Amino acid sequence: MNQHVHPDFTSFVARAAREKLLGQSGCVIWLTGLSGSGKSTLAAGLQQALQTQQKLAYVLDGDNLRAGINANLGFSEEDRFENIRRVAEIAKLFVDAGLLVICSFVSPTNSLRQLAKEVIGEKDFYEIYVQAPLEVCEKRDVKGLYAKARRGEIKNFTGIDAPFDVPQNPALIIDTSAQEPTASVENLLAFIQPKIQLS
Ligand code: ADX
Repeated sequence: MNQHVHPDFTSFVARAAREKLLGQSGCVIWLTGLSGSGKSTLAAGLQQALQTQQKLAYVLDGDNLRAGINANLGFSEEDRFENIRRVAEIAKLFVDAGLLVICSFVSPTNSLRQLAKEVIGEKDFYEIYVQAPLEVCEKRDVKGLYAKARRGEIKNFTGIDAPFDVPQNPALIIDTSAQEPTASVENLLAFIQPKIQLS
């Protein structure tokens, strides 16, 4: 941080007041998994389900943010780090705003997810592993990217020629190869509901 910057977090209306206004306790639901594992579908379904229950959720999605604020970043280790750092800082602001922030990012390594957890703060961070075997994701190949990666047209593609560390201790695992999207959304909703109630 620049030494001439003087942050003041105390003069503004507190997070608790906004949470009271919204009738919910803010947090980050961090979806990690391979491309094509179903993160975006799950994020959209969960947001819709929460909205139906009068809860205010907002989705931050890798592909979308990479079209805007992170448009200058690629998929090198360094750029993924900066991608996740920015996203985590944004998610932290949104949690302070009182929102339920659904983050949908491949976030392929333990250190990237650790970074997100540290920036956001452990008590507001739920790591959800959206699991599907690579073969399943590759077969789905919704965006045609696996085929391109196999042909060598995309480098550093997660699962092909870039690593994906299986999360060591996720709060929840959703296996999208074993159940329908509606069931996945229901499972995630059941997990998160008690956590977002105002105490
Ligand atoms: S992350 O690794 O930095 O967390 P992020 O979630 O933002 O990735 O973006 C992943 C999305 O970018 C994928 O769903 C896919 O559509 C696209 N993509 C393009 N190139 C790559 C690549 N080399 N590795 C992974 N995803 C890629």
